[in-house]
Amino acid sequence: MKKPSLPSFDHQPKAYTGPSLEDVKKLRKRYLTPALLTYYTDPIMIVEGFMQYVYDEKGRRYLDVFGGIVTISVGHCHPYVIQKTKEQLETLQHATTIYYHPVIAEYARMLAEKLPGDLSVCYFVNSGSEANDLALLMARLYTHNFEVIALRNAYHGGSAATMGLTAHSTWKYNYPHSFGIHHAVAPDPFRGPWGHDDPEAGPKYAADIKNLIDYATPGRVGAFFAESIQGVGGAVVYPDGYLKKAFEYIRAAGGLCISDEVQTGFGRTGYHYWGFENQGVVPDIVTMAKGIGNGVPLAAVVTTPEIAQELTQRIHFNTFGGNPVSCAVGLAVLEVIEEERWQAHRE
Ligand SMILES: Cc1ncc(COP(=O)(O)O)c(C=O)c1O
Repeated sequence: MKKPSLPSFDHQPKAYTGPSLEDVKKLRKRYLTPALLTYYTDPIMIVEGFMQYVYDEKGRRYLDVFGGIVTISVGHCHPYVIQKTKEQLETLQHATTIYYHPVIAEYARMLAEKLPGDLSVCYFVNSGSEANDLALLMARLYTHNFEVIALRNAYHGGSAATMGLTAHSTWKYNYPHSFGIHHAVAPDPFRGPWGHDDPEAGPKYAADIKNLIDYATPGRVGAFFAESIQGVGGAVVYPDGYLKKAFEYIRAAGGLCISDEVQTGFGRTGYHYWGFENQGVVPDIVTMAKGIGNGVPLAAVVTTPEIAQELTQRIHFNTFGGNPVSCAVGLAVLEVIEEERWQAHRE
């Protein structure tokens, strides 16, 4: 097969002076968990990145179509994001939420302004799994209901609690998990029982949620978790009307609707800033990670003031959540998406 050639690009990678690929392979094999997975039979070693490209140790350039697993939202080492990161690193590298610091406050306001309805209270954490853990806790506390409905073919994380929400055998270890979690049929218009040409497919798939509520729970549920488009499960776009009907059933059973925007948020779907907007719904809790920080460990849970109040029953603390550097990066990412009109890059 003829290799495609890349268009010219005005960036000269630095000369690489670190350990060789062979040495890195040996170090990884000897000192890192064997559970790590690589892609391709001959994985490349990435030593530098700039905007849409990454470079290997020989200075060879690759187009990063994967975006660091849907994480590089505005480009590798985006100059403005780096400038803001540096400025913050040189000013205040760490402070926790037991003191006031300005960046977290300004960032929370800016992020909240991106969300519809009453979704205006932010809790910052470090990863998508942590964000979903927290959302699960909040929903169960708020509703006093334990049962949760998620979707088959979903991915919500690999922590003890989120492994239960995740529904792929490949990511679920053979040990006890998923207590109180039920998985409804994935609304997959290409592989599911109702096809992409069935105008009623949305409500038909959602009927399985009603069925679970009636026959697998006490009739009351704490939450419904759904990615707005299933990502790890293969970019599954739900049929029109699916989330609307699903949310109706869940709310009628006392539950909260949680949108996992870890992959679909921050304008990634083009026309809308959030994936759930494509389905015309407003969730009660939104979880976000990956693209929020363009590669730094930053994630968030955004909800309403009333739901957020539940966490005040005890102390909930996260050492790095909302640290000044991650928040400075998050803020810069929001600015870049806006100023460089990233959503308009959809066509
Ligand atoms: C939709 C979704 N939710 C949650 C997660 C978990 O995020 P993290 O790996 O940051 O814990 C992922 C990760 O791939 C994801 O794709």
